[in-house]
Amino acid sequence: MSLIPYALARSFLFKMDAEEAHEFTLANVARTQNTLLDRAYRQPFVADPVTLAGLQFPNRVGLAAGLDKNARCIDGLGAMGFGFVEVGTVTPKAQPGNPQPRMFRLPEAQALINRLGFNNEGLDAFIANVKKAHFRQHGRLLGLNIGKNAATPIENATDDYLVALSGVYPHADYVTVNISSPNTKNLRALQSDEALDGLLGALTARREELAAEHGRRVPMFLKIAPDLDEAQVGVIAATLQKHGMDGVIATNTTLARGAVSGLPHAEETGGLSGAPVREASNRVIRLLRTALGPQFPIIGVGGILSGHDAIEKIRAGADVVQLYTGLIYKGPALVTEVASALQQMKAR
Ligand SMILES: Cc1cc2nc3c(=O)[nH]c(=O)nc-3n(C[C@H](O)[C@H](O)[C@H](O)COP(=O)(O)O)c2cc1C
Repeated sequence: MSLIPYALARSFLFKMDAEEAHEFTLANVARTQNTLLDRAYRQPFVADPVTLAGLQFPNRVGLAAGLDKNARCIDGLGAMGFGFVEVGTVTPKAQPGNPQPRMFRLPEAQALINRLGFNNEGLDAFIANVKKAHFRQHGRLLGLNIGKNAATPIENATDDYLVALSGVYPHADYVTVNISSPNTKNLRALQSDEALDGLLGALTARREELAAEHGRRVPMFLKIAPDLDEAQVGVIAATLQKHGMDGVIATNTTLARGAVSGLPHAEETGGLSGAPVREASNRVIRLLRTALGPQFPIIGVGGILSGHDAIEKIRAGADVVQLYTGLIYKGPALVTEVASALQQMKAR
Protein backbone atom coordinates (compact mmCIF):
# COMPACT_ATOMS: atom_id res chain seq x y z
CA MET A 1 0.00 0.00 0.00
CA SER A 2 1.18 3.49 -0.69
CA LEU A 3 1.84 5.90 2.17
CA ILE A 4 -0.35 8.75 0.97
CA PRO A 5 -4.01 7.99 0.18
CA TYR A 6 -4.47 8.86 -3.48
CA ALA A 7 -7.73 10.74 -2.76
CA LEU A 8 -5.66 13.24 -0.76
CA ALA A 9 -2.94 13.56 -3.39
CA ARG A 10 -5.61 13.95 -6.04
CA SER A 11 -7.45 16.77 -4.27
CA PHE A 12 -4.14 18.63 -4.09
CA LEU A 13 -3.17 17.87 -7.71
CA PHE A 14 -6.62 18.72 -9.12
CA LYS A 15 -6.28 22.26 -7.74
CA MET A 16 -3.43 22.82 -10.20
CA ASP A 17 -3.69 23.26 -13.96
CA ALA A 18 -3.77 19.76 -15.51
CA GLU A 19 -0.41 19.97 -17.26
CA GLU A 20 1.24 21.60 -14.25
CA ALA A 21 -0.01 18.74 -12.04
CA HIS A 22 1.29 16.26 -14.60
CA GLU A 23 4.76 17.83 -14.67
CA PHE A 24 4.85 18.13 -10.87
CA THR A 25 3.96 14.44 -10.44
CA LEU A 26 6.41 13.23 -13.07
CA ALA A 27 9.21 15.31 -11.55
CA ASN A 28 8.51 13.72 -8.15
CA VAL A 29 8.39 10.20 -9.55
CA ALA A 30 11.64 10.84 -11.45
CA ARG A 31 13.29 12.08 -8.24
CA THR A 32 12.09 9.26 -5.99
CA GLN A 33 12.18 6.23 -8.30
CA ASN A 34 14.68 3.57 -7.24
CA THR A 35 14.74 5.00 -3.69
CA LEU A 36 12.77 4.06 -0.58
CA LEU A 37 10.59 7.10 -1.23
CA ASP A 38 8.92 5.18 -4.04
CA ARG A 39 6.70 3.75 -1.29
CA ALA A 40 4.52 6.83 -1.87
CA TYR A 41 3.21 5.10 -5.02
CA ARG A 42 4.57 1.52 -5.04
CA GLN A 43 1.92 -1.21 -5.40
CA PRO A 44 2.06 -4.97 -4.89
CA PHE A 45 2.94 -6.73 -8.14
CA VAL A 46 0.37 -9.24 -9.39
CA ALA A 47 2.04 -12.05 -11.34
CA ASP A 48 -0.16 -13.30 -14.18
CA PRO A 49 2.15 -14.21 -17.07
CA VAL A 50 0.84 -14.47 -20.60
CA THR A 51 2.73 -14.99 -23.86
CA LEU A 52 1.81 -12.67 -26.69
CA ALA A 53 3.65 -11.80 -29.91
CA GLY A 54 6.49 -14.01 -28.71
CA LEU A 55 6.91 -11.95 -25.54
CA GLN A 56 6.22 -13.03 -21.99
CA PHE A 57 4.07 -10.33 -20.41
CA PRO A 58 4.46 -10.68 -16.60
CA ASN A 59 0.86 -9.55 -16.12
CA ARG A 60 -1.88 -8.17 -18.30
CA VAL A 61 -1.88 -4.48 -17.42
CA GLY A 62 0.36 -1.89 -19.02
CA LEU A 63 0.84 1.85 -18.96
CA ALA A 64 -0.41 3.49 -22.17
CA ALA A 65 1.81 5.86 -24.13
CA GLY A 66 1.90 9.60 -23.63
CA LEU A 67 2.21 9.85 -19.86
CA ASP A 68 5.99 9.56 -19.91
CA LYS A 69 6.86 11.01 -23.29
CA ASN A 70 10.58 11.37 -22.53
CA ALA A 71 11.02 8.04 -20.72
CA ARG A 72 12.11 9.75 -17.49
CA CYS A 73 10.07 7.64 -15.07
CA ILE A 74 10.16 4.07 -16.33
CA ASP A 75 11.25 2.55 -13.01
CA GLY A 76 8.88 4.64 -10.91
CA LEU A 77 5.92 3.80 -13.13
CA GLY A 78 7.02 0.17 -13.10
CA ALA A 79 6.83 0.22 -9.28
CA MET A 80 3.08 0.89 -9.62
CA GLY A 81 2.64 -2.74 -10.67
CA PHE A 82 2.51 -2.57 -14.45
CA GLY A 83 3.67 -5.69 -16.28
CA PHE A 84 4.59 -3.50 -19.22
CA VAL A 85 5.21 0.19 -19.65
CA GLU A 86 5.01 2.07 -22.92
CA VAL A 87 6.85 5.38 -23.17
CA GLY A 88 6.83 8.08 -25.88
CA THR A 89 5.52 9.09 -28.35
CA VAL A 90 9.04 10.11 -29.31
CA THR A 91 9.78 11.97 -32.55
CA PRO A 92 13.19 12.09 -34.25
CA LYS A 93 13.81 15.72 -33.26
CA ALA A 94 12.81 17.57 -30.11
CA GLN A 95 9.69 19.72 -30.49
CA PRO A 96 7.64 21.93 -28.15
CA GLY A 97 4.14 20.69 -29.05
CA ASN A 98 1.10 22.96 -29.21
CA PRO A 99 0.65 26.23 -27.26
CA GLN A 100 -0.62 25.91 -23.67
CA PRO A 101 -3.15 25.38 -22.19
CA ARG A 102 -3.46 22.02 -23.95
CA MET A 103 -4.64 19.53 -21.33
CA PHE A 104 -8.05 19.69 -19.62
CA ARG A 105 -9.88 17.65 -16.99
CA LEU A 106 -13.55 16.75 -17.29
CA PRO A 107 -14.04 15.23 -13.82
CA GLU A 108 -17.82 14.76 -14.19
CA ALA A 109 -17.05 12.35 -17.03
CA GLN A 110 -13.80 10.91 -15.63
CA ALA A 111 -12.14 12.15 -18.78
CA LEU A 112 -9.36 14.29 -20.17
CA ILE A 113 -8.99 16.25 -23.37
CA ASN A 114 -5.45 16.86 -24.61
CA ARG A 115 -3.90 18.52 -27.62
CA LEU A 116 -0.28 18.26 -26.50
CA GLY A 117 0.99 17.51 -30.01
CA PHE A 118 3.91 15.17 -29.22
CA ASN A 119 5.85 17.63 -27.04
CA ASN A 120 9.11 15.79 -26.41
CA GLU A 121 12.87 16.15 -26.15
CA GLY A 122 13.64 14.03 -29.21
CA LEU A 123 15.12 10.63 -29.88
CA ASP A 124 18.62 11.08 -28.41
CA ALA A 125 17.40 12.31 -25.01
CA PHE A 126 14.73 9.61 -24.99
CA ILE A 127 17.22 6.80 -25.59
CA ALA A 128 19.61 8.18 -22.99
CA ASN A 129 16.77 7.96 -20.43
CA VAL A 130 15.70 4.49 -21.55
CA LYS A 131 19.25 3.24 -21.04
CA LYS A 132 19.20 4.38 -17.40
CA ALA A 133 16.11 2.35 -16.46
CA HIS A 134 16.35 -0.99 -14.60
CA PHE A 135 12.78 -2.02 -15.35
CA ARG A 136 13.59 -4.55 -18.08
CA GLN A 137 16.05 -6.38 -15.83
CA HIS A 138 13.10 -7.54 -13.72
CA GLY A 139 11.42 -9.27 -16.65
CA ARG A 140 8.98 -6.43 -17.24
CA LEU A 141 8.42 -5.31 -20.80
CA LEU A 142 9.23 -1.90 -22.22
CA GLY A 143 7.36 -0.58 -25.24
CA LEU A 144 8.78 2.36 -27.16
CA ASN A 145 6.22 4.41 -29.09
CA ILE A 146 7.30 6.36 -32.18
CA GLY A 147 5.80 9.21 -34.21
CA LYS A 148 6.63 11.93 -36.68
CA ASN A 149 7.70 15.53 -36.11
CA ALA A 150 5.03 18.17 -36.71
CA ALA A 151 7.34 20.01 -39.13
CA THR A 152 7.90 16.95 -41.35
CA PRO A 153 5.48 17.06 -44.32
CA ILE A 154 3.07 14.14 -44.25
CA GLU A 155 4.49 12.89 -47.59
CA ASN A 156 7.80 12.33 -45.79
CA ALA A 157 6.31 10.78 -42.66
CA THR A 158 7.84 7.38 -43.42
CA ASP A 159 11.34 8.89 -43.13
CA ASP A 160 10.62 10.00 -39.56
CA TYR A 161 9.21 6.61 -38.57
CA LEU A 162 12.26 4.85 -40.06
CA VAL A 163 14.68 7.09 -38.17
CA ALA A 164 12.76 6.57 -34.95
CA LEU A 165 12.47 2.81 -35.45
CA SER A 166 16.20 2.42 -36.03
CA GLY A 167 16.97 4.51 -32.95
CA VAL A 168 14.67 2.76 -30.49
CA TYR A 169 15.02 -0.78 -31.86
CA PRO A 170 17.93 -2.06 -29.73
CA HIS A 171 16.32 -0.78 -26.52
CA ALA A 172 12.73 -2.00 -26.96
CA ASP A 173 10.82 -5.15 -26.08
CA TYR A 174 8.29 -3.92 -28.60
CA VAL A 175 7.88 -0.85 -30.78
CA THR A 176 4.54 0.91 -31.27
CA VAL A 177 3.92 2.81 -34.49
CA ASN A 178 1.56 5.61 -33.52
CA ILE A 179 -0.47 6.94 -36.43
CA SER A 180 -3.56 7.80 -34.43
CA SER A 181 -2.89 10.96 -32.44
CA PRO A 182 -5.44 13.60 -33.43
CA ASN A 183 -3.03 16.41 -32.51
CA THR A 184 -0.49 16.19 -35.32
CA LYS A 185 -1.89 17.51 -38.61
CA ASN A 186 -2.87 14.74 -41.05
CA LEU A 187 -1.32 12.00 -38.91
CA ARG A 188 -4.51 9.94 -38.90
CA ALA A 189 -4.50 10.00 -42.73
CA LEU A 190 -1.72 7.41 -42.41
CA GLN A 191 -4.42 4.95 -41.31
CA SER A 192 -5.95 4.94 -44.81
CA ASP A 193 -5.34 2.17 -47.34
CA GLU A 194 -2.38 3.16 -49.53
CA ALA A 195 -0.65 5.34 -46.97
CA LEU A 196 -0.76 2.55 -44.39
CA ASP A 197 0.36 -0.07 -46.89
CA GLY A 198 3.38 2.08 -47.84
CA LEU A 199 4.29 2.91 -44.25
CA LEU A 200 4.03 -0.64 -42.92
CA GLY A 201 5.85 -2.01 -45.97
CA ALA A 202 8.78 0.33 -45.32
CA LEU A 203 8.83 -0.30 -41.58
CA THR A 204 8.68 -4.09 -41.79
CA ALA A 205 11.44 -4.10 -44.45
CA ARG A 206 13.63 -1.98 -42.13
CA ARG A 207 12.76 -4.29 -39.25
CA GLU A 208 14.22 -7.23 -41.20
CA GLU A 209 17.50 -5.32 -41.56
CA LEU A 210 17.51 -4.34 -37.90
CA ALA A 211 16.72 -7.91 -36.81
CA ALA A 212 19.73 -9.16 -38.77
CA GLU A 213 21.95 -6.38 -37.41
CA HIS A 214 20.96 -6.85 -33.77
CA GLY A 215 20.25 -10.58 -33.81
CA ARG A 216 16.79 -10.02 -32.35
CA ARG A 217 13.38 -9.61 -33.93
CA VAL A 218 11.51 -6.92 -32.03
CA PRO A 219 7.69 -7.09 -32.34
CA MET A 220 5.99 -4.08 -33.88
CA PHE A 221 2.48 -2.97 -32.95
CA LEU A 222 0.28 -0.43 -34.72
CA LYS A 223 -1.77 1.98 -32.60
CA ILE A 224 -5.07 3.03 -34.12
CA ALA A 225 -7.90 5.48 -33.43
CA PRO A 226 -11.40 4.71 -32.17
CA ASP A 227 -12.93 6.95 -34.85
CA LEU A 228 -12.97 4.35 -37.63
CA ASP A 229 -15.86 2.60 -39.34
CA GLU A 230 -16.12 -1.12 -39.94
CA ALA A 231 -14.73 -0.92 -43.48
CA GLN A 232 -11.70 1.09 -42.30
CA VAL A 233 -11.00 -1.36 -39.49
CA GLY A 234 -11.26 -4.20 -42.02
CA VAL A 235 -8.66 -2.61 -44.30
CA ILE A 236 -6.32 -1.94 -41.37
CA ALA A 237 -6.67 -5.56 -40.19
CA ALA A 238 -5.84 -6.89 -43.67
CA THR A 239 -2.85 -4.54 -43.99
CA LEU A 240 -1.48 -5.57 -40.58
CA GLN A 241 -1.59 -9.22 -41.58
CA LYS A 242 -0.19 -8.59 -45.07
CA HIS A 243 2.93 -7.00 -43.61
CA GLY A 244 3.44 -9.38 -40.72
CA MET A 245 2.87 -6.80 -38.01
CA ASP A 246 2.82 -8.42 -34.57
CA GLY A 247 -0.13 -6.74 -32.92
CA VAL A 248 -2.49 -3.80 -32.75
CA ILE A 249 -3.14 -1.32 -29.95
CA ALA A 250 -6.73 -0.14 -29.87
CA THR A 251 -7.35 2.65 -29.21
CA ASN A 252 -6.01 6.17 -29.00
CA THR A 253 -8.20 9.14 -27.95
CA THR A 254 -11.41 10.12 -29.73
CA LEU A 255 -12.51 13.24 -31.57
CA ALA A 256 -16.16 12.47 -30.74
CA ARG A 257 -17.78 14.65 -28.06
CA GLY A 258 -21.27 13.13 -27.83
CA ALA A 259 -20.62 11.58 -24.43
CA VAL A 260 -19.43 14.84 -22.84
CA SER A 261 -21.57 17.50 -24.54
CA GLY A 262 -22.47 20.37 -22.27
CA LEU A 263 -19.66 19.72 -19.77
CA PRO A 264 -17.02 22.38 -19.07
CA HIS A 265 -14.10 22.01 -21.55
CA ALA A 266 -16.06 19.56 -23.72
CA GLU A 267 -15.55 21.76 -26.77
CA GLU A 268 -11.77 22.03 -26.42
CA THR A 269 -9.90 20.79 -29.49
CA GLY A 270 -7.97 17.56 -29.01
CA GLY A 271 -8.35 13.91 -28.12
CA LEU A 272 -10.84 12.79 -25.48
CA SER A 273 -9.75 9.94 -23.19
CA GLY A 274 -11.12 8.14 -20.15
CA ALA A 275 -14.63 6.78 -19.54
CA PRO A 276 -16.23 8.41 -22.63
CA VAL A 277 -13.89 6.57 -25.05
CA ARG A 278 -14.47 3.14 -23.49
CA GLU A 279 -17.34 1.94 -25.65
CA ALA A 280 -15.82 3.29 -28.89
CA SER A 281 -12.59 1.50 -28.06
CA ASN A 282 -14.41 -1.75 -27.24
CA ARG A 283 -16.30 -1.50 -30.53
CA VAL A 284 -13.05 -1.25 -32.50
CA ILE A 285 -11.57 -4.17 -30.51
CA ARG A 286 -14.60 -6.33 -31.34
CA LEU A 287 -14.30 -5.44 -35.04
CA LEU A 288 -10.57 -6.17 -34.99
CA ARG A 289 -11.04 -9.53 -33.27
CA THR A 290 -13.61 -10.57 -35.87
CA ALA A 291 -11.41 -9.43 -38.75
CA LEU A 292 -8.12 -10.78 -37.39
CA GLY A 293 -9.19 -14.15 -36.00
CA PRO A 294 -8.50 -15.56 -32.54
CA GLN A 295 -4.67 -15.54 -32.55
CA PHE A 296 -3.64 -12.02 -33.57
CA PRO A 297 -2.45 -9.98 -30.54
CA ILE A 298 -4.72 -7.09 -29.54
CA ILE A 299 -3.80 -4.66 -26.78
CA GLY A 300 -6.96 -2.96 -25.51
CA VAL A 301 -6.87 0.61 -24.21
CA GLY A 302 -9.42 3.33 -23.62
CA GLY A 303 -11.52 4.15 -20.59
CA ILE A 304 -10.35 1.56 -18.08
CA LEU A 305 -11.22 2.94 -14.63
CA SER A 306 -11.92 -0.34 -12.83
CA GLY A 307 -11.21 -4.06 -12.89
CA HIS A 308 -14.62 -4.54 -14.47
CA ASP A 309 -13.76 -2.20 -17.36
CA ALA A 310 -10.62 -4.27 -18.02
CA ILE A 311 -12.61 -7.52 -18.01
CA GLU A 312 -14.95 -5.96 -20.60
CA LYS A 313 -11.95 -5.18 -22.80
CA ILE A 314 -10.78 -8.80 -22.63
CA ARG A 315 -14.33 -9.96 -23.39
CA ALA A 316 -14.38 -7.62 -26.40
CA GLY A 317 -11.31 -9.43 -27.72
CA ALA A 318 -8.21 -7.86 -26.15
CA ASP A 319 -5.40 -10.09 -24.87
CA VAL A 320 -3.87 -7.52 -22.52
CA VAL A 321 -4.81 -3.94 -21.60
CA GLN A 322 -3.26 -0.53 -21.02
CA LEU A 323 -4.47 2.54 -19.17
CA TYR A 324 -3.63 6.19 -18.77
CA THR A 325 -6.58 8.42 -17.76
CA GLY A 326 -7.73 5.93 -15.10
CA LEU A 327 -4.41 6.43 -13.33
CA ILE A 328 -5.12 10.17 -13.05
CA TYR A 329 -8.60 9.62 -11.58
CA LYS A 330 -8.00 6.49 -9.48
CA GLY A 331 -4.29 6.52 -8.68
CA PRO A 332 -1.77 3.67 -8.72
CA ALA A 333 -4.06 1.27 -6.78
CA LEU A 334 -5.99 0.90 -10.04
CA VAL A 335 -3.06 -1.02 -11.54
CA THR A 336 -3.28 -3.75 -8.89
CA GLU A 337 -7.08 -3.74 -9.06
CA VAL A 338 -6.99 -4.35 -12.82
CA ALA A 339 -4.17 -6.91 -12.70
CA SER A 340 -5.98 -8.89 -9.95
CA ALA A 341 -9.33 -8.76 -11.75
CA LEU A 342 -7.74 -10.16 -14.91
CA GLN A 343 -5.82 -12.80 -12.96
CA GLN A 344 -9.05 -13.95 -11.30
CA MET A 345 -10.91 -13.87 -14.58
CA LYS A 346 -8.38 -16.31 -16.05
CA ALA A 347 -8.52 -18.54 -12.98
CA ARG A 348 -12.27 -18.98 -13.36
C1 LIG B 1 -2.50 13.57 -21.94
C2 LIG B 1 -2.42 12.41 -22.90
C3 LIG B 1 -1.36 12.29 -23.77
C4 LIG B 1 -1.29 11.21 -24.66
N1 LIG B 1 -0.20 11.08 -25.48
C5 LIG B 1 -0.08 9.99 -26.28
C6 LIG B 1 1.07 9.78 -27.06
O1 LIG B 1 2.03 10.57 -27.03
N2 LIG B 1 1.12 8.68 -27.85
C7 LIG B 1 0.12 7.74 -27.89
O2 LIG B 1 0.24 6.74 -28.60
N3 LIG B 1 -0.99 7.91 -27.13
C8 LIG B 1 -1.11 8.99 -26.34
N4 LIG B 1 -2.23 9.15 -25.55
C9 LIG B 1 -3.34 8.15 -25.66
C10 LIG B 1 -3.29 7.10 -24.57
O3 LIG B 1 -2.14 6.33 -24.69
C11 LIG B 1 -4.53 6.18 -24.66
O4 LIG B 1 -4.50 5.49 -25.90
C12 LIG B 1 -5.85 6.94 -24.57
O5 LIG B 1 -5.76 8.01 -23.65
C13 LIG B 1 -7.02 6.03 -24.15
O6 LIG B 1 -6.75 5.40 -22.92
P1 LIG B 1 -7.25 5.97 -21.48
O7 LIG B 1 -8.73 6.23 -21.61
O8 LIG B 1 -6.91 4.89 -20.51
O9 LIG B 1 -6.49 7.21 -21.23
C14 LIG B 1 -2.32 10.23 -24.67
C15 LIG B 1 -3.40 10.36 -23.77
C16 LIG B 1 -3.46 11.43 -22.89
C17 LIG B 1 -4.64 11.53 -21.95
